[in-house]
Amino acid sequence: MIEILKTLRKTCKERNIPIISLATESFLWKLLRKHKPKICLEIWGAVWYSSIYMGEILNAWGGKITSFEISYPAYQEGLQNTKESHCYNIISYPYDANYAPIKKLVKGPIDFIFIDGQKSQYGEYMEIIEKISSPDTVILIDDVIKYHNKLSSLYEYLQKKQMKYQILQLEPDDGVMLIHG
Ligand SMILES: C[S@@+](CC[C@H](N)C(=O)[O-])C[C@H]1O[C@@H](n2cnc3c(N)ncnc32)[C@H](O)[C@@H]1O
Repeated sequence: MIEILKTLRKTCKERNIPIISLATESFLWKLLRKHKPKICLEIWGAVWYSSIYMGEILNAWGGKITSFEISYPAYQEGLQNTKESHCYNIISYPYDANYAPIKKLVKGPIDFIFIDGQKSQYGEYMEIIEKISSPDTVILIDDVIKYHNKLSSLYEYLQKKQMKYQILQLEPDDGVMLIHG
């Protein structure tokens, strides 16, 4: 792991900024190396911990990741962190992604999407990414066990679209949802 990520994990904990768990991190490492996606999207970035983590992995095969963040101060921190990480394959936008012209900003179809945002809006995020994904897009959704009771919009969407998914328990109290094909 690059040095900045170690420091960032520590400071995020001290400042109560939620970032991906170490278990999600290891899962991402395996998943990204398996599929080797080139065009990736993160929903959403906070201070870009997970974007930098994924950006580092994606560098190995020329992959890129686009990340949005609604909070301008967090976005600015993210830019600084990205600069310090020397990760040049991260494209950052300070937008409320629910209203951003996402189709113009992220040229699809996207190979991989990581969702780690406001849990109650996961169904809305699925509507947004529908415009830029394809049946081959791999979608990974974080925290689906811990926050199960906030995910009704996600489950309504999945049922409406008859989409298949897998829930993978990565920690005693949490895990991820994987949607692929
Ligand atoms: C759990 S944090 C993301 C953590 C990040 N994935 C990591 O591990 O480093 C969720 C972030 O989503 C942002 N957010 C929530 N709704 C958003 C929206 N509509 N557009 C852009 N960002 C949003 C919040 O401000 C917050 O910083």
